[in-house]
Amino acid sequence: MKILLTGGAGFIGSHTCVELCQAGHEPVIVDNYVNSCSEAVRRVERIVGHAIPCYEADVRNKEALSRIFDENAFDAVIHFAGLKAVGESVAQPLRYYRNNLDSTLTLMEVMQEHGVRRIVFSSSATVYGNQPVVPYREDMPSLGCTNPYGWTKFMIEKILEGQVNADPSWSVVLLRYFNPIGAHESGLIGEDPSGLPNNLMPYIAKVAVGELDHLNVFGNDYPTKDGTGVRDYIHVVDLAKGHVLACGYAAGRTGCEIINLGTGSGCSVLELVHTFERVNGVRIPCVIAPRRPGDIAVNYADPTRARELLGWTAEKTIEDMCRDTYRFQTRNPKGYRG
Ligand code: NAD
Ligand code: WQD
Repeated sequence: MKILLTGGAGFIGSHTCVELCQAGHEPVIVDNYVNSCSEAVRRVERIVGHAIPCYEADVRNKEALSRIFDENAFDAVIHFAGLKAVGESVAQPLRYYRNNLDSTLTLMEVMQEHGVRRIVFSSSATVYGNQPVVPYREDMPSLGCTNPYGWTKFMIEKILEGQVNADPSWSVVLLRYFNPIGAHESGLIGEDPSGLPNNLMPYIAKVAVGELDHLNVFGNDYPTKDGTGVRDYIHVVDLAKGHVLACGYAAGRTGCEIINLGTGSGCSVLELVHTFERVNGVRIPCVIAPRRPGDIAVNYADPTRARELLGWTAEKTIEDMCRDTYRFQTRNPKGYRG
């Protein structure tokens, strides 16, 4: 299939691009590099051994996007493009709503005008809100989001569901990711946050190479095994493989399906830190800090639906995630721009 990846130069998009090529598909990227750079695409090309068609454009630019659709007969779209920093979304809500919603509306209009009606969307476990029980299952009603970023994901899910209701010939897959970490085992592509990382694993990686002197552990008084927050960390390559299968699934049906992509197991902050130290032979100095506002104690996925509908299960371990992250970090100490 010829598949458009909006935001395909980003962390998850670049890994998905590799997996799509290796499964015999033809990915085409559109990205405005607001949170990535063209070097990521060059690296993907090195891994797969051929050029990847790539357009530099903002997905909100309808004229530019229409031209891309005029030039390519797409079978499906994977919509990764979006701003994703939770804290930044609280400080800049209008920018987040404008970017994430407008890009989706423009994309959907252009798809409709070109008769492309299959879309896989990067949603997030954040749309569940703080559920009283784990694991999180797709049929649990959302308990609301705690930040504008999360609400953009919630609203985009509704926009896509609404389109399927209006035109049942559409095929929509809403993938709710849990906590993607890790990197491609080549060490060529990985997560490259600009500035101070917001998320745990990129922060650990920068402490590991001495760029930051310690990790703040946000709270050790949660009702969890060791008092620190528990999450479902998933290797980005497993996640990428889930997208390949989701595209095949979307091609064989119509309607709208929500699917969790997670491992089904929870890992605490300290478990992740200790595993990282053990497999990489490094020390991660930690300081216990106050809880981060908005954080929840525990979440992890029920991945049954992904197994049943896509035939997908996460294969990589927390050890793999720690090893691969450290490899990318040490080989690219300044990220792609180094
Ligand atoms: P990322 O920032 O690395 O990738 C997003 C890409 O979209 C970037 O390359 C960015 O330049 C591009 N982009 C943003 N707005 C654009 C626009 N208007 N036009 C064109 N390109 C644009 O993030 P990621 O971690 O790869 O996440 C991909 C998607 O998955 C995002 O939608 C994100 O919200 C979602 N998601 C990520 C996580 C996570 O923890 N990484 C978890 C759940 C969901
Ligand atoms: C994980 C755990 C922190 C940093 C976020 C988004 C979510 C999704 C994935 C996009 C928590 C603790 C963290 C640090 C710490 N993204 N922590 N010190 O918050 O589960 O999810 O990314 O959709 O929407 O909210 O991930 O990596 O920020 O935190 O102790 O410096 O690590 O308190 O328990 P989170 P995270």
